[in-house]
Amino acid sequence: MQTLTQTSSRQRMLLTSFAMLLLAIAPGNASASPPTATYVGCLACRDCHTEEFRRFVTYAKKSRSFESIERLRHGLTEAEIERCYGCHTTGYGKPGGFVSIEATPHLKNAGCEVCHGPGGRHAATGDPAAIKKHLSKEDCEVCHTSERVAAFRFKPLIHGGAH
Ligand code: HEC
Ligand code: HEC
Ligand code: HEC
Ligand code: HEC
Repeated sequence: MQTLTQTSSRQRMLLTSFAMLLLAIAPGNASASPPTATYVGCLACRDCHTEEFRRFVTYAKKSRSFESIERLRHGLTEAEIERCYGCHTTGYGKPGGFVSIEATPHLKNAGCEVCHGPGGRHAATGDPAAIKKHLSKEDCEVCHTSERVAAFRFKPLIHGGAH
């Protein structure tokens, strides 16, 4: 019994060191399959994309979309409020996305990453290949009904909710 436990804990340690080694070399190794990128929030984009950031927080209602929930929350149950999160926050229900205002305050609004996708890997490296650039109207229809997307004529207004 004693030896068994010792062996398995030694094996666990070996496995852990191996996993840590993999983690340590993965970011620098472009040919390794990329780990799932996580959401980091708009502030993490500010220093490298000053203009996009400035325009986004100045003009896009998305940058304040949590306030819209706050405005209407009176009289709603917690379950009803949770239903707002999928569109009014960043990455709700997805790995590394919004969980709650206490746990993930940096993801409370619908930020850059609702369009560009989780940006953790890109923000850490600046690698353009690690972030989505070109978008299609399907990317908007996740939250905007197709009628609305058609109504605001996707093409000219693709930057309308962005920057
Ligand atoms: C460490 C600096 C850095 C950070 C932080 C950063 N970026 Fe970038 N980003 C770059 C560089 C460098 C490029 C490539 C050069 C360029 O096109 O300006 C780029 C390009 C892009 C592109 C265009 C990709 C392409 O294929 O041309 C998008 C979209 C983008 N970034 C979004 C974001 C978002 C969203 C965030 C925050 C989650 C972010 N970036 C954070 C440095 C950064
Ligand atoms: C994760 C959900 C989500 C996605 C994806 C999304 N939007 Fe939005 N968008 C919103 C929400 C929520 C608002 C309203 C924010 C508020 O007023 O509280 C909004 C607002 C807007 C507005 C109103 C004008 C303004 O000032 O912001 C436009 C235009 C818009 N979005 C365009 C787009 C386009 C184009 C795309 C796709 C490229 C897109 N959105 C993708 C959630 C989303
Ligand atoms: C399926 C996605 C989706 C869900 C779910 C959702 N919203 Fe929205 N909401 C939007 C979009 C998109 C807009 C912007 C509409 C436009 O301008 O075309 C918006 C706009 C709003 C606005 C208007 C903001 C303004 O300035 O005019 C308020 C308020 C709002 N939502 C509150 C809520 C609340 C509260 C909930 C949950 C009970 C909720 N929304 C659920 C997508 C959603
Ligand atoms: C509503 C969707 C939406 C949101 C939100 C959004 N973007 Fe974009 N972004 C776009 C679209 C559309 C393009 C143009 C892509 C193309 O040229 O096909 C773009 C392009 C870019 C580019 C490339 C610019 C270039 O000229 O190559 C960068 C960098 C970028 N966005 C950063 C950001 C940052 C940082 C934020 C948040 C502060 C943000 N975006 C929020 C939709 C969005």
